[in-house]
Amino acid sequence: MIAVPLYYAGVTMVDIRQAVLESLARYEESHGDPTRAIYERFYRVHPEAIEELAFDTVLENRMMAGILALLADVADGSIDPGGAVYWVSDHVAWEVSETMIMGMFGAVRDTVREGLGPEWTARMDADWAGLLAALAPAMRDAVSEAGGIVSEG
Ligand code: HEM
Repeated sequence: MIAVPLYYAGVTMVDIRQAVLESLARYEESHGDPTRAIYERFYRVHPEAIEELAFDTVLENRMMAGILALLADVADGSIDPGGAVYWVSDHVAWEVSETMIMGMFGAVRDTVREGLGPEWTARMDADWAGLLAALAPAMRDAVSEAGGIVSEG
């Protein structure tokens, strides 16, 4: 197969983070749906979200489907991080902060990493780190533009 470079909006090189997709697929093969494990991890760090979310399993499930789709779409280059923020202003109105957003993405990565155990590879580590680093400034700008809480520095 010929490797064709991908361009976003004709200008920017899109990073393809294939190992992120592989890690999600491997997790699902061995453990099934990660939704419950991700929320448990997230609520340990952000118990303030429990009251808003944890009593509505339908909402939790729909939202996690959206979060996983977003991560996969940015990882495979279908959308760039700046195009993945359309939902942020609604969330700021619900007092969701930048720290909570990045905490949720981190909870997905950490759940998958822990679940895969020795099957977690250096490439997965690098691709996830790249994905989260690419999302961070886009989320920060979107939260800030919507008047929400961004972390210091
Ligand atoms: C703690 C309070 C939160 C509340 C009350 C909340 C509420 C909601 C609601 C009502 C939806 C729409 C679900 C539907 O399709 O019916 C949603 C979707 C979504 N939420 Fe949250 N959320 C919260 C936290 C978070 C956090 C921390 C993240 C971080 C990543 C997040 C990311 C998303 C995403 C990506 C979607 C899908 C957007 C789409 O594709 O339409 N939410 N959320």
